[in-house]
Order: sequence, then C-alpha cells, then structure tokens
Amino acid sequence: MSYLKSNPFRKDFPAIDQIINGKRLAYLDSAATTLKPNIVADEVDLYYRKETSNVHRGLYWLSENATTKFEETRQKIAKLINAPDKKQVIFTKGTTDSVNLVAHSYARSFLNEGDEILLSQMEHHSNIVPWQLVAEEKKIVIKVIPINERGEIIFEEFEKLLNSKVKLVSVVFISNALGTINPIKKMISSAHKVGAKFFIDAAQAINHVKIDVQDLDADFLAFSGHKMFGPTGVGVLFGKEELLNMMPPYQGGGDMIDVVTFEKTTFNNLPHKFEAGTPAIASVIGLSKAIDYINQIGFDKIKEIEDELLAYATSKLLTIPGLKIYGTAQEKTSVISFGIEGIHPHDIASLIDKEGVAIRTGHHCTQPLMRFFKVPATCRASLSIYNNQEDIDQLYNALLKVKTFFE
Ligand code: ALA
Repeated sequence: MSYLKSNPFRKDFPAIDQIINGKRLAYLDSAATTLKPNIVADEVDLYYRKETSNVHRGLYWLSENATTKFEETRQKIAKLINAPDKKQVIFTKGTTDSVNLVAHSYARSFLNEGDEILLSQMEHHSNIVPWQLVAEEKKIVIKVIPINERGEIIFEEFEKLLNSKVKLVSVVFISNALGTINPIKKMISSAHKVGAKFFIDAAQAINHVKIDVQDLDADFLAFSGHKMFGPTGVGVLFGKEELLNMMPPYQGGGDMIDVVTFEKTTFNNLPHKFEAGTPAIASVIGLSKAIDYINQIGFDKIKEIEDELLAYATSKLLTIPGLKIYGTAQEKTSVISFGIEGIHPHDIASLIDKEGVAIRTGHHCTQPLMRFFKVPATCRASLSIYNNQEDIDQLYNALLKVKTFFE
C-alpha cells in the first residue's frame, strides 16, 4: 500500500494541516523536532488543567496519580528499549543532558590522563563538546573515526583506532545531518573486545528503528522525547546497572538524596540518584502517550512509510539541475541534506519559507561534518510518517522557483 497520496496519520497531528502566511504548510523539519499527535497534546493539557501536582512527594490523590503516570512512563520506556530494569531509565532534559551526565559523572571519574575517547566525524556538537570539556580537564585524548564521501563510517579505520587505551566510544546511531544509519551493533562488539564502553546517541534513531539495548549490548544510550512525537524538555539516559551504580551523582538537589546533614549527604538509589529537583512531569507523562502512538503503528510500518517518502523525495529532487545530496549511505533514514550550485542554503530556506515549506538550513550542529564536505551549510528536508507526496511536490516546486529567481 502507498501512503504518498493517502496518509491516514495526518489527521492525528493538528499542526500538519494549516495555512501559514497564506500558504499551505509543508513541514519537512522532523529531524529538528517531530510534530505532536493529539493524544500527546491532550495528556499534557490534562496535566496542566486538572492534574497538576508534584511527583514522589505528596500523600494525596493528585500527587499519587502524577507519580503513578510518571513511573508508568519509565516502565514503558524500559519495555520500548528492552532495558532489564526500569531503574536503568533515567529522566533527563534531553539527549544533550544525557551526554553531559555521562561525561561529567562517568568520564570524569573513571577516565585518566592518556586514555582515549573515540567519536565519529558525523557527531552532533552535543556528542562532541561535553566530552571535550572533560577531556581538557583530565588530559584525555579524543580521536575521530573517519567517514567516506557517502557519509558512512569507514569500519576498518574504526577498528584500527581501537586499542587498550580507548576507554569510551560515543557514536550517533542515525546522523541528524545525513540520515546515515551506523552499524552500531558491530561497532559495539568491536569496542568491547578492547574493553571500551559504548555510548549510543539515539536522538534521531528512537522513532525510526526498534532499539533493543540488551541485543546491542549498549553500555549507555540517550534520546529525546521531542524527536519521537513527545513533548520537549524530557529525555532519557539508559545505562548498564553496574555502571550507573558506580557513577557519582551529576547534580545535587531534592529527590536524589537519602539523608542530608551539613556534615555529609548520602544518596538515593537508582534512578533517583540522577534526577535532582522537580522533573518535567507533564513532558514525561505526555511522552507516555507518544510511546503508545509509536507502538500502535509499529516500527515496520514507520519504516515502510518513511522509506517510500525518502525514495520519492530523493528521485524528485535529483531531477533539479545543480542539486547535490550530501549523505548517500546505503543504510539511511528519511533525511535529505542538499545544496544547489551557486545558491547559498540560507537564501534557499528563506525563499521557500515564503512558499510554505519548512526545512532546516545551517550546519545542523555538525560543523566538523560540514568541514568534511567543504560546505558552510546545507539545506535539510527531513520526513516523518505524517508527510505526503504533496509536501514533497511543494518543496520541489518551491526549489524550481528559487532556481528561476537566481537565473
Ligand atoms: N538536533 C536537531 C536537528 O538536527 C535540533 O535539527
């Protein structure tokens, strides 16, 4: 069945069908953030209108209700990623916060001068800078796994970088800028042979592929709610229990403590040890509905829809003279990064915005990757289950107008 012309999921997303500045909206920026289905917006609305209360603190109905929903979400996430125990699911502000947590707690405590961290050329700044901050302080060496012109990790080069000094490898599962799906399972297995721990940045992967942390043998995994049809302000860190237990708290505050005196404080158990302060309660509860939504559709169908959209969009855009796609990996998801010869990406984005087309333009928080491709920026169209042929045709027609404008 083709979803290009008739897409039953559009009706679930109130933001997709709207007119902005007199034009039909073609939302093609789902890698930046996905739109939210009604069930997520309704749940967040219910919490703020009727069910507001804090979690883990009150002995009254509202607080117990919020705590139950909050902890049920944790359980649902554990099931989604097949974590052995829900206490291994730590709520954070997002993927960036999760990387910072592991860098500042694990790397700072257990890596030493001369140890090595491997990152790939296609990492997002959030999977570079937190490690750099700690590396500078501890004199840890950061090395870069090279990629090829298609935007794929060169596996043999990765293996050459592995040795007993490598204590941690942190790599993106799916590139936000290119859509490349990296061979994470194979990489983890190689990293483990030299005793390195493996951190997976799954920010872009979580709503595209079924993740099983036990099958992958992931040491750490991070993702954000807002890229999986959920609210902003909440993310997850999964970690192996023995690693999380070893790690000191990252931030101090309420909920993460056991006993506090001015002389000494003892800390709460997992997961609360890493959850200082009042969390993003509404966002966590809303995320639960986003997971229900994904489960109801299933990853096989998500892949089928997105693959069809990607194939249609790729072949259509490639008919535009002078258009080049960056990121042509054999294994890729529905992200198309592109440029048009002689036209600055920012001009493209501003002009097509006037045609109702929303894409992201810039370095996509991947400046080292842009440097690899020798471009300052690219335009990026990213597709999700609610897109259709009309959205892609609208992008195509808007790009033709841009070409005419610059001729
Ligand atoms: N990391 C997000 C993106 O790729 C914000 O656009």
